[in-house]
Amino acid sequence: MIGTGYVGLVSGACFADLGNTVYCVDKDKEKINKLNKGIIPIYEPGLSEIVKKNYLSQRLIFTSNLGDAVSKSDIIFLCVGTPSTKINKSADLTYVFSAAKEIAKYINKFKVIITKSTVPVTTGDKIEKIISQKKRKKLFEVISNPEFLREGDAIRDFRFPDRIVVGSNNAKVTKKIEFLYEPLIKKGATFFSTNRRGAEIIKYASNAFLATKISYINEIANLCEKTNVNIEDVSIGMGLDKRIGSRFLRAGPAYGGSCFPKDTIALAVTGDDYKIDLSIIKSVIKSNTKRKTILLDRIKNILSNKIKKKKIAILGVTFKPNTDDMRESSSLLLIPYLEKNGAFISYYDPSGKKKNFDKFKKVSFSKNVKEACDNADLIIIHTEWDEFKSIDFKKISKNKNLKIYDMRNLYSPKKMKKLGFSYYSIGR
Ligand SMILES: NC(=O)c1ccc[n+]([C@@H]2O[C@H](COP(=O)([O-])OP(=O)(O)OC[C@H]3O[C@@H](n4cnc5c(N)ncnc54)[C@H](O)[C@@H]3O)[C@@H](O)[C@H]2O)c1
Repeated sequence: MIGTGYVGLVSGACFADLGNTVYCVDKDKEKINKLNKGIIPIYEPGLSEIVKKNYLSQRLIFTSNLGDAVSKSDIIFLCVGTPSTKINKSADLTYVFSAAKEIAKYINKFKVIITKSTVPVTTGDKIEKIISQKKRKKLFEVISNPEFLREGDAIRDFRFPDRIVVGSNNAKVTKKIEFLYEPLIKKGATFFSTNRRGAEIIKYASNAFLATKISYINEIANLCEKTNVNIEDVSIGMGLDKRIGSRFLRAGPAYGGSCFPKDTIALAVTGDDYKIDLSIIKSVIKSNTKRKTILLDRIKNILSNKIKKKKIAILGVTFKPNTDDMRESSSLLLIPYLEKNGAFISYYDPSGKKKNFDKFKKVSFSKNVKEACDNADLIIIHTEWDEFKSIDFKKISKNKNLKIYDMRNLYSPKKMKKLGFSYYSIGR
């Protein structure tokens, strides 16, 4: 695995757990040192146990020596980051191409090189070109095997994926990779193969489609708020139609995270490159950007335009529960906005303090829900961590005028009203 981040570490550990010998390579030496000391650099439920078990059985090796790992491996997964470029927010392929150049130097026998990183269509062709400048085409095959795991559920997603997509222009190599995944296929995962470019598009089209579902239900939630309809009922009513499905139909804050924001934009740019107007995804991006402002306005409204000197508790700052990933989380906009407008913020997140907020004087990290909510005028539930689902608000706050803004619809508006709270949620 070249790149030992969320994808490389989880996949590497899980492949080792299936009996393979896996080298997890990262150029970040500190990360590798930590892993060799048993410190897991990310928060992912269940990962630590699998890493430790396979590390001790010497099936999982952490190293910064890419050459050694490549020369000893048959299959090489590229799991490096593909963030947005600064210029036009297309996928930045610098890490992918520089890793490909490095790999090329150490190809000593036939290797399958697989892009697991999310890369735009034709990137595989470009990687093949880079490597063939150094090595004969007979010595390697570049294929695509996009990753669909979700942070927070990554282990389960690896072990029980809905589908394994492989994009390859070489049938023999496809068979080889099918064999690698055989333990998962035997448990029910569907193995689907297509050509290399096809797999590259499947990944972006899937992420963009899920982002579309989220933005769609978020817009419908806005309509529900104005018409006194419960968005939860609308989601259930829609989701019962098997053609639609209930997943990703839960209204909430703008979508965030390490994938959807960058991948939707990168897809739109790819469309432009080919002079194809991907207008639906462009609207989704616009809608998601607007969503952030809509929710800030709602908070302003809840506080009757008086944010200054208000004590606001934020529960959860990561973009979703069960991860420590802060990339593109809507809290990165929310907290600075409230601070700038004069509020005092105490936030709590089960995955710990975030350095993103260190520079803000009026923002502090609390050790638990109770400490964060102490004396709060407004509590905002931002992330759907389990421990926020059964809070006894009466117990944690003595403030009679307490306001609660539940951005994840975790509580019943009726019950909260009965308890006497000013309770606000999304789309109901
Ligand atoms: N995070 C997710 O949930 C997820 C899910 C599916 C797909 N993906 C895709 O997978 C890819 C990786 O995502 P991630 O979240 O794991 O990224 P990440 O930033 O967590 O990890 C990438 C790692 O690659 C390392 N790296 C970069 N260049 C290297 C090189 N030349 N040699 C060795 N190591 C190198 C970095 O130091 C870093 O540790 C991205 O393309 C992403 O879009 C991510």
